[in-house]
Amino acid sequence: MTLSSELVVARTREELAVALAGQRAAGLRVALVPTMGALHDGHQALMRAAAENADLVVVSIFVNPLQFGSLDDLERYPRTWEADLEVCRGAGVAVVWAPSVDVMYPPGEPEVTVSAGLLGTVFEGASRPGHFDGVLTVVAKLFGQVRPDVAVFGAKDAQQVALVRQMVGDLELGVRIVSVDTVRANDGLALSSRNDRLTSAGRAVALAVPQALAAGRAAAPSGPDAVRTAMTSALDAEPGLVLDYLTLVDPATFAEVPPGYVGPILVLVAVVVEGTRLIDNTTVTVTDR
Ligand code: PAF
Repeated sequence: MTLSSELVVARTREELAVALAGQRAAGLRVALVPTMGALHDGHQALMRAAAENADLVVVSIFVNPLQFGSLDDLERYPRTWEADLEVCRGAGVAVVWAPSVDVMYPPGEPEVTVSAGLLGTVFEGASRPGHFDGVLTVVAKLFGQVRPDVAVFGAKDAQQVALVRQMVGDLELGVRIVSVDTVRANDGLALSSRNDRLTSAGRAVALAVPQALAAGRAAAPSGPDAVRTAMTSALDAEPGLVLDYLTLVDPATFAEVPPGYVGPILVLVAVVVEGTRLIDNTTVTVTDR
């Protein structure tokens, strides 16, 4: 594994080409960690996994306008540039690829975009129309710009990971996708750049989510209906939280599991607390009784 000690920040395609030229000539494997900045310990785990899977780590930092439903949400997205660079330095990242919106999308939104298909229209996609088209379009562009061997994503965004894998398969992009387990704070809340928007009271409300996931895991031996019931009552018990969806899907297909289903289940949950949207998930296995 070769990790550069000097962090290079590339802001244009030319700078990125120069930053990666030597590595390509030496035949080193490149791992990409796509991010929108506001980096936290969860991103550090992605960077560690990237370093384990390649010789050189590139982190992209780009707040992608195409995946935000409202200008307000885009503008409220946290930007912590200096702190982000420190995180990257600390993780031994070689290159930060940080294009401006104009560099990424000259001269405006692209004419041709990636469609996330049916899976892009359910769950997160139903609540955020167009979100996954925007995500896949920028991820495809990032893959074209960086040409990584491996790209690393967080399992918290389970639907995003599934769609990126689908895109890589369908479009034969030749990038290996690695998914990294969700990192949680000591209180159980999944790390997210959006958590900083919560007041301490809001955070206490949001803890109903990991508590509901734990209740779902505990109920798994009694079957999918019991998982749903246990989780719904844990979430309903918290009046400060608005439940968007709670769904149990087959992790391989994302099809909702029927009553009496036996096998692994991915439980997806999305809530809104103090106007902030939070998502989380867990895997449970229902065995034949
Ligand atoms: O997960 C994210 O931070 C974003 O959706 C991604 C993958 C960086 C694309 O903008």
